[in-house]
Amino acid sequence: MVQTVKVARHLFFPTQVWVFKHPENQFNQAILDYILELEAKEKSVVISNRGGWQSRDNVIFEKEMTPLRETIVARMQAVIKNNQYKASASPKLINGWANVNRSSQYNLTHTHGRSDWSCAYYLNNVEEHHGAIYFNDPVTQRSANGVNNVFIDNPEMENWDSVEFKPDAGDLIVFPSWLPHGVHSSSSDDSRVSVSCNFQIE
Ligand SMILES: [Fe+2]
Repeated sequence: MVQTVKVARHLFFPTQVWVFKHPENQFNQAILDYILELEAKEKSVVISNRGGWQSRDNVIFEKEMTPLRETIVARMQAVIKNNQYKASASPKLINGWANVNRSSQYNLTHTHGRSDWSCAYYLNNVEEHHGAIYFNDPVTQRSANGVNNVFIDNPEMENWDSVEFKPDAGDLIVFPSWLPHGVHSSSSDDSRVSVSCNFQIE
C-alpha cells in the first residue's frame, strides 16, 4: 500500500538583498565628479577600507548629492513597504559617505552598526578587476559547522555561503545592516566609486 505523506519544506529566516537598476540616471557623472573633487581635498576616514578613500559620513546630505539622496530614499521606502513594518514606520537616513578604491585597495568584511538597512550605489561599472562586493551567510553557526564541504558543486542559492555582485553604474544594492559584507581588492588603477548609506526604521 502506498502511503501518502504530507511534507512541508519551510525556508525560515531569509536574508534580503535588493538590487535596483537605474541605467538612465542622468546625475551620475556630476556626482562622480563631485566625489573625486572631495577626494582631492579631504583626508580619508579609515573604517573597513584598506587603502582607498572614504569620505566623512555626512556627505549624502550635501546639496550636490540631492538627486542621488532622493533616489535612494525613494527606493528605501519601497523596501520598507515590502517588509511588513507598521504603517507608521518610515526609513530615516542617518548617514552616507563616498568610497573610492583603486589598485590593491579593498574593504574588510564588516557590518554596519546602529542601523537597520544599508545600501551601496555605484557611480561606475564594477568589473572583476575593480573588486566585487560580497555578502557572507550571516548564520555563523552554519559556516562553523562546515556543511559547505559536503554540498555538490554549484548548489542552489539557498546553499551558498557567499554571494558577490559586480554592479553597473546606477545600481543600488540594499541589504540589512547586520549582513556581513566586504569589497574584494581592486587590481585596477581605475577609480571604483560608490556611495553607502544607513537607515534606521522609526
Ligand atoms: Fe559596508
